[in-house]
Amino acid sequence: SNQLNAKAPPVFEGVPFLGGILKFVQGPMKLMAEGYARHGEVFTVPVLHKNITFLLGPCVSAHFFKANDEEMSQKEVYEFNVPTFGKGVVFDVDHKVRAEQFRFFAEALKTAKLKLYVPHFVSEAEAYFAKWGDAGEVDLSKAFAELIILTASRTLMGREVRENMFTQVAELFHDLDAGMLPVSVLFPYLPIPQHRRRDRAREELSRIFSKVIRARRASGAREDDILQCFIDSRYEKVYGGRALTDDEITGLLIATLFAGQHTSSITSAWTGYFMIANKATAWAAAEAEQRRVLAERGPAIDIDALGEMDALQRNITEALRLFPPLIMLLRQANAAFSVETSAGRRHVVPKGHIVFASPAFSHRLPAVFPQPDAFEPERFAPPREEDKVAPFSFIGFGGGRHGCMGSNFAYLQIKTIWSLLLRNFEFELVDPFPEADYDSLVVGPKPCRVRYHRRALHAQGI
Ligand code: HEM
Repeated sequence: SNQLNAKAPPVFEGVPFLGGILKFVQGPMKLMAEGYARHGEVFTVPVLHKNITFLLGPCVSAHFFKANDEEMSQKEVYEFNVPTFGKGVVFDVDHKVRAEQFRFFAEALKTAKLKLYVPHFVSEAEAYFAKWGDAGEVDLSKAFAELIILTASRTLMGREVRENMFTQVAELFHDLDAGMLPVSVLFPYLPIPQHRRRDRAREELSRIFSKVIRARRASGAREDDILQCFIDSRYEKVYGGRALTDDEITGLLIATLFAGQHTSSITSAWTGYFMIANKATAWAAAEAEQRRVLAERGPAIDIDALGEMDALQRNITEALRLFPPLIMLLRQANAAFSVETSAGRRHVVPKGHIVFASPAFSHRLPAVFPQPDAFEPERFAPPREEDKVAPFSFIGFGGGRHGCMGSNFAYLQIKTIWSLLLRNFEFELVDPFPEADYDSLVVGPKPCRVRYHRRALHAQGI
């Protein structure tokens, strides 16, 4: 009977039609704060011809994350990626094909493979930081963006691209990136110069990868990169069990890069800013941990050494809680569903609504994470373990059916970077602690410089 009495979510009245879209463009964070203050965890904002229903906090999020693709669909809301990723992959194919392509991702990102990528994380990061002087100033976001495109090209696109075509391919990816504007979400095919350059870059990438793939197949050489995993993959339940076309491989590589690149470099930067700003606690704990790992295992950084760095891992997770780069996750409800708020109110979200979950907003609910604005990595350790009290409390990597497949890859890469920096440098902030730049699609810190001094932890007698 509860079910029958349940009503549609309250409509956030403060934002009529045009107001809705304006507020939305001005800042979804403000819109959510106002809607939450007035209506609580569930409310609907009409924007243009759509109804957007917000589900804020773990209590009302389970269906969003657990429902199957037919009920809670990503295709309609993430379709704007199609010109970037290309035809025939991910959001341009039906659920069955997509499920198989996601199996290829899963295969490429399983532990046995991750183990092989770690040496590349290490060698790229070592070479990159070797170019820093004994002292200097850098913007962490910028530096890590450069480093991560290097490691991504090595572990993802392979040795050939990294060694022979890095600059060219990096420029093409830059054009793809620059073609992903806020306006592209609503109008991905708008004939603007950025979109034309994006389309040219996508075609050129396909030609380049075709050549690389053909040469690799012809030489019989096998490499330990994600490109190789995609070359080796076969569809099972669709397309008569064939291998991937070169263009599909290109598309999956681009999709992987878009999922993992900015998210990882941004999270590396926030982790650094927080550790530097919390020298006596977060930095000290991670530094002590490096001394212990160095003493016990020597200087080699491999998957096992990284697995022992719990303090560093918690610093990363806490940075990701406070500033998740993907601030909103979207679905289209293709079937009505009901939710119950923590106050016991039941609502039926009608079929056809666009549904939003928000890591950035939900992570700051004091009922879920006490003192939500404070950087407290211990909240993830026993006895607190605040992320484990209710499922879908920590959603920096999403969760459930479409939870991030690259979270382990990301942790290993970020931990490699910060292990090397903790061992070899000291830092201080030059500028005030950065704010988040909510103007971009993937949200990172505004520019903020740090000063570094080289020093070797293991030269200090550990
Ligand atoms: C999905 C965050 C790194 C691959 C997701 C989702 C989030 C996320 C929130 C869920 C999206 C949704 O529900 O709509 C992050 C963050 C990262 C990161 C914060 C870094 C700190 C990576 C990396 C890779 C990757 C490095 C690959 C190498 C994927 C894939 C999915 C995904 C394939 C789609 C899973 C699916 O839809 O079933 N990620 N990600 N991510 N991520 Fe990540």
